[in-house]
Amino acid sequence: MSSQAGERLVARGGLPCGRVRVAGDKSISHRAAMFGALAEGETRITGFLAGEDCLATLTAFRRMGVATEGPDTGGNLRIAGVGLDGLQPPEEPLAMGNSGTSMRLLAGLLAGQHFPTVLTGDASLRNRPMNRVAEPLTRMGARIRAEGEGGRPPLRIEPAPDLKGRHHVLEVASAQVKSALMLAGLYADGETCVTEPAPTRDHTERMLAAFGYPISRDGATVCLDGGGRLGGTDLAIPGDLSSATFFLVAAAIIPGAELTIEEVGINPTRRGGLDILRAMGADIREANPRTLGGEPVADLEVRGGRLHGINIPTQTVPLAIDEFPALFVAAAAAEGRTVLREAEELRVKESDRIQVMAYGLQALGVAAEPLADGIVIDGGAMSGGKVDAHGDHRVAMAFAVASVVAEGPIEVTGAEAIRTSFPDFLDVVERAGLRVATITEGSNHG
Ligand code: S3P
Repeated sequence: MSSQAGERLVARGGLPCGRVRVAGDKSISHRAAMFGALAEGETRITGFLAGEDCLATLTAFRRMGVATEGPDTGGNLRIAGVGLDGLQPPEEPLAMGNSGTSMRLLAGLLAGQHFPTVLTGDASLRNRPMNRVAEPLTRMGARIRAEGEGGRPPLRIEPAPDLKGRHHVLEVASAQVKSALMLAGLYADGETCVTEPAPTRDHTERMLAAFGYPISRDGATVCLDGGGRLGGTDLAIPGDLSSATFFLVAAAIIPGAELTIEEVGINPTRRGGLDILRAMGADIREANPRTLGGEPVADLEVRGGRLHGINIPTQTVPLAIDEFPALFVAAAAAEGRTVLREAEELRVKESDRIQVMAYGLQALGVAAEPLADGIVIDGGAMSGGKVDAHGDHRVAMAFAVASVVAEGPIEVTGAEAIRTSFPDFLDVVERAGLRVATITEGSNHG
């Protein structure tokens, strides 16, 4: 959670207006890289997110012998798939940077290979729990060990030629765990099923289908048989709703704002943040709904106004899990109290998002009380001030957009992490009419 070296933002607000596009969807880009690499034949992708997290996934496949071209500035990427059994042993440990999705999904995929691998990451990732994937994978016969203290990275994976399909009943609602088990299931003997305690993002299921791999769903359970094949395909990746949420919030909390965010994914398993903002009184319209790359998309039109606090319905939590830093800013700008419970997962994201957001909001004069599993925020006036994003991309972006209602500039340290998921955030912010400048700290700070 260090943010000593790196970038500082100074955000001075503005009135969001006009039309913008946000970066490609991070979750879908990871999966496109993975399935493209494992497919037979070429996969051509548009809208691939060239953020550090997805590039970590792509680089891992390059190190395992997969040829790729791109991504260029338009997110065009070609992957020459090697087939499910075509990966080559990497020469060194695979570095996953800040990306939990890369590490957890690759853990499942690599459990079925004929060569050993080690997965490692930056200080934040090395602090995140990995037994949630290592334990169920071990029950399939995988030989995988989280070598850090308390089940943390690095992950050491030894070849396990005889993975067995089985039925997993998950305790945590996690698309990363579900996806890791399904990826291992591609290499397992027999059927692998995963039952989830609550719906989580279903991009893996949709994309397997897009690559021609048979998969079935019955209620909360999804199943596939090992030993099939993936066929290379063409894929268009929509804008990331999680990235769009910073702009939805920026516009929703200030009367007079009028902003359209084009071609954003509105998958039902991701749209909890939209529903929460609407329940707080936000005026958001989904224009021009259509399908792109097997995913529902729309242009999101938001008009600013006054929001009010709510008790966030607990069933929306997994459907909005990445949106809470931005939603806490909306709560701080709203009238009245917002209460979030049953969201302890936020404590094991890229930072402890409950504590880090509470510290930041308090530094801006907002009454924010962290709870073990959530937060209570009393909306009201927000001052300017200094906050530390603790190297968490979504925390940094949330405080940058909070400046639209703050009484003075907001300085955010640890903002370099924005490159993990939204490398052109500053350009998009500027196009939306906000004033955010970045300052690179001298090396003597690092
Ligand atoms: C993701 C799933 C979520 C989310 C993460 C991306 C994915 O994590 O927070 O940013 O792409 O599967 P969990 O599944 O652990 O909740």
